[in-house]
Amino acid sequence: MEMETEYCFRHKHILGLENLSTDDISFILQTAESFREISTRPIKKVPILRGKTIINLFFEPSTRTRLSFEIAAKRMSADTFNISASTSSATKGETLVDTALNLQAMNPDAIIIRHSHSGSPHLLTKHINASIINAGDGFHEHPSQGLLDLMTVKQKKGKIEGLKIAIIGDISHSRVAHSNIIGFSKMGAQVYVSGPATLLPPGIEQLGAKACRSIEEAVTDADVVMALRIQKERQLDPLIPSLREYANFFGVTNKLLEKSKPDAIVMHPGPMNRGIEIDPAIADGPRSVILEQVTNGVAVRMALLYLILGGSEQ
Ligand code: CP
Repeated sequence: MEMETEYCFRHKHILGLENLSTDDISFILQTAESFREISTRPIKKVPILRGKTIINLFFEPSTRTRLSFEIAAKRMSADTFNISASTSSATKGETLVDTALNLQAMNPDAIIIRHSHSGSPHLLTKHINASIINAGDGFHEHPSQGLLDLMTVKQKKGKIEGLKIAIIGDISHSRVAHSNIIGFSKMGAQVYVSGPATLLPPGIEQLGAKACRSIEEAVTDADVVMALRIQKERQLDPLIPSLREYANFFGVTNKLLEKSKPDAIVMHPGPMNRGIEIDPAIADGPRSVILEQVTNGVAVRMALLYLILGGSEQ
């Protein structure tokens, strides 16, 4: 994608892909590509964020996102600190805003927040001065995951525009699905979604996706097939009869992939439930790019931290 020569990345916060332009997304992906090599060096450290303080404030569990933000920050020489729900004073009744105001009083440069309530990162931007990165807010968005998925597809396919992306599973409760629908649609791909009717939200087409009646329709001739986990923790009542039935109808299997393009890749944001949304033979097979997504997660998060913390000035 051609960018205006005077383009400049001007965001203080990363709250969602809905707030980023196609130029912003292209620039983040380019920057992430340039950072990827640092992680392959024997000494994986550059001084570009030396003196910056970054806090990971995670109110929900995480393996990939929390650790890759921390690795990204440390590889750029920033100082990082982690707080989780169970070790914070939220357990004693402190509100999110009070917690954030107390963190602000220690003058961090960025706070990376994961929270079960949609809009929590947006709320913090109204109360504190530090840059805020949304590491997943409720059902809403998970922008760094969307960006690392875009980066992985661009690497594997050489482009994003014109591709058919099939996203299968619990679309209603998935912030990853929402960021990916927005991101891939903005960058010119066609996004098809499928899942149990109880897990396909009305109005999903307004985000840019085509809702398919059958999983086969979504996967036929797809360039990319993305399986999503059933987000049981976000369902008040069970919305599918059983996981076994879900696996039978919506699991990504070799048989299903016969309908996709022969060179289709398979993605999953993790954590993965093997044998439910994805057959282990697919997860470990030649089409799978699941661990490359994780590798790209470090590069994308380095790019985000660098861009919002003014690393370019150095
Ligand atoms: N994809 C993702 O957000 O994984 P974690 O929950 O492990 O961070």
